[in-house]
Parts: sequence; structure tokens; C-alpha cells
Amino acid sequence: MNILLGVSSGIAIYKAVDLVSKMRKQGWNIQIIMTENAAKLVNPIVFSAVGDCKVYTDTYEIEAGWIIHTELSKWADVLLVAPATANTIAKLANGIADNLLTTTALAFAKDKRIIVPTMNTRMYENELTLENIEKMRQHGWHVLEPESGHLACGDVGKGRYPENEKIIEFLKIIMSEKLLKNKKVLVTAGPTQEELDPVRYISNHSSGKMGYAIAQAAKRFGAEVCLVTGPTCLTFPYFVDEVVLVRSAKQMYDTVLEKKEDYDILIMCAAVADYAPKMVSKEKIKKTNDNLTIELEKTPDILYSIGMSKRERQFVVGFAAETENVVENAFEKLRRKNADLIVANDARLAMGSDTNSVYLIFKNKAMVQLDGTKEEIAEELLKRICKELS
Ligand code: PMT
Repeated sequence: MNILLGVSSGIAIYKAVDLVSKMRKQGWNIQIIMTENAAKLVNPIVFSAVGDCKVYTDTYEIEAGWIIHTELSKWADVLLVAPATANTIAKLANGIADNLLTTTALAFAKDKRIIVPTMNTRMYENELTLENIEKMRQHGWHVLEPESGHLACGDVGKGRYPENEKIIEFLKIIMSEKLLKNKKVLVTAGPTQEELDPVRYISNHSSGKMGYAIAQAAKRFGAEVCLVTGPTCLTFPYFVDEVVLVRSAKQMYDTVLEKKEDYDILIMCAAVADYAPKMVSKEKIKKTNDNLTIELEKTPDILYSIGMSKRERQFVVGFAAETENVVENAFEKLRRKNADLIVANDARLAMGSDTNSVYLIFKNKAMVQLDGTKEEIAEELLKRICKELS
């Protein structure tokens, strides 16, 4: 992917240096245009070194007949202006082309144009700025809304530069094929915690990474997404439509059962506790004996319940986390829980890590192995599900 980054002179410009570093890690090709004022705040050499790329600042620089603004606008798949100041937004909204960035933007004929407005709250809330942003929207620009919070000038309000991870995800969403358009996807993720007393619980090592990656990829592919998650340390996936935070297997069961009818694809990736303490002590359990016996009872099986009651044209995916006989056990789960697909993995390798190695096991006994980062596996899994549904 070829990305042309336009940088204008907001105080958040220092964060755009890290954005370039993160975009480079994605393997994207980058070229940068800085406005004259932006180049006064951060030397273009910094951007060039971090992005290993060319940085342009001067409209009148001509390289052997290369007309920079038209060539750059043809080269780029996407034009991203971050941070976009009120001044640059005003120019872009009104077709003013008085520097290399605004001239190139005017020559950029594709629909993949993004601004990340970043400025003082009062400048952002000025009706002229809001009108300009709205005008850009109407002319096909994608707008990533600024965040609210503490601003560099000391004010508190809307206008903050969003996290770079969020900008990267916004780019991915805009660039991805909408394979799941008009589909509703529900994903469960993370561990559950089964309370023992007011300070203790039984749980497992699931980090939530696999389920969050699936929810994020489903959003990227255009689905309406609900994530039902147990407690994790992760940031919620960006732009998903609904996140429901639960703790216990019973809470996850109640949430999924209440929502299941509305969803076309249900992906049960959570590591749900199979057993929970039969009694929850009201007080902290005391260390009085050498041994302690805790009676456990089975939790409701979410996958089994939705598999057995699934409606027509509803696709149910289960996971199988095994430590032995991974494939054999997964086939047995597919049959017993009436799933359409089981994703089988080795629990010891999968839990907590950024990568995974899985077998997709289909009803017709077909089997596919996928290896890679959880993000890669999530995307490939959803593509395979789309194929099954087509
Ligand atoms: O979160 P990560 O660190 O990224 O790790 C990912 C993962 C290992 C948790 C994930 O890839 C995975 O394998 N998830 C399923 C874990 C699990 O509980 O597997 P299981 O074989 O015990 O359960 C089989 C299926 O039944 C699962 O879809 C599970 O969600 C479901 N189940 C289990 C018990 C229960 N009471 N209700 C359920 O619905």
C-alpha cells in the first residue's frame, strides 16, 4: 500500500513521527509532505529517517521534469493528513492550493482521503471549522474525529490527536474489502473468572488477543460487530459497534443467549471456565486446615446451546484449546456441539502469545492449517467463513 502522509503544523506533530514509525512496521510504502510551518516545528530529516522515505516541503522543487504534486497524487493509494490543522482543513475544504500539500490534495483523484483534525477545542468547535470538516465529508473525505481530553495548551475538550494505533486501524478499515457488509458478527473473547470468595477467583491464561483480533478484523471487513469479553488487559478493538464486559461463564452465557438471534456469525473464542465453585463464600476463606476442598459444578456450555438452537443461515464457530490430540478432540467437539466450524489450537502455544497455529475443521471433514500472527489468522478465518457462506 502506498501512503502519502500530509503533515501540518499542530503541536501533536511529534506524535506523527511515531505514526510514521508504526506505518513503516506495517510494511507500507510512505512518502511525506510537510507544510512550511510543520517543517519549522520538526525537522523533515526526523520524518525521513524514521520512515526511511522521501519528505517533500517545497512546491517548486522539480526533479528532472517530475511535477511533484501530480506524480505524488498518482503514486499514492491513500492520502492521510495527520495532524490536520484548522488552517489546512480550511484550505482543503475550499479548494485552495497554495502549498505542496494542498496542491497535491487537489490533484488526488481517488476516494481514499483522510483527515485527522487536531487543534485547540475552541478552534475545533468554531462553526467555520465544523462547517469545513462537514464540507470535506460531503466531498468524500474520511474524517477521524479527534479525541476529548487534556490539550497541549492546558484546555480540556475535543481536539486531541487520537492514538496512532487507532489511525492505523482507520486506514485498514478504509483500505479493506467489505467482505462482511450487511453481516452481524458476535465474538466472545478472553477468560472468565469464577468467584470463590470476595478476593479470589478461578480463571485461566487467556489474554483475549485471539478474540479481539477476530472482532477487529470483522469490523475491518465491514460487519456490525459485538464483542463479549471476559476481563483482559487489552484496549478494546477500535470502532466495534458494541463491547459487553462480563466476568463469569454464567454472565457470558446470559449475554450471548440474549443476543444470539440478531447475529449471522457467532464466534466463540473465549476460554470459558468449564467449572465454577458451587458455593461462593461471603467472607475471605481462612487458612485453617492443611487441605482445602472446593466443590465445583459445571458451567452452562454456551457453544453447545447456540449450536443446538441455531437458526437457518446462522454460522456458528467454536474453538478447541487442547494440550493433546488437538485435531481428534476438535472433530469430536464439532459434532457434539453442532458447530459449523471448529478452530483447533494447542492451548500452551496459543494462550497469551501474539502468534498462533490453528486447524480449521469444517463439517464436511475438510481441514486447513493456518499459521501467523493472530491478526493474520483472524483475517484468513473470516475470509474462509465468507467462502462457506457464499
Ligand atoms: O486469548 P488468547 O490468549 O489469545 O488465547 C486464545 C485461546 C487459546 C483462548 C483461543 O484460541 C481458544 O482456543 N479459545 C477456546 C478456549 C476453550 O475454552 O476451549 P475448550 O476446548 O475448553 O472449549 C471449546 C469451545 O466451547 C470453545 O469455543 C469455548 O468458547 C466453548 N465453551 C466452553 C465452555 C463453556 N462453558 N462454554 C463454552 O461455550
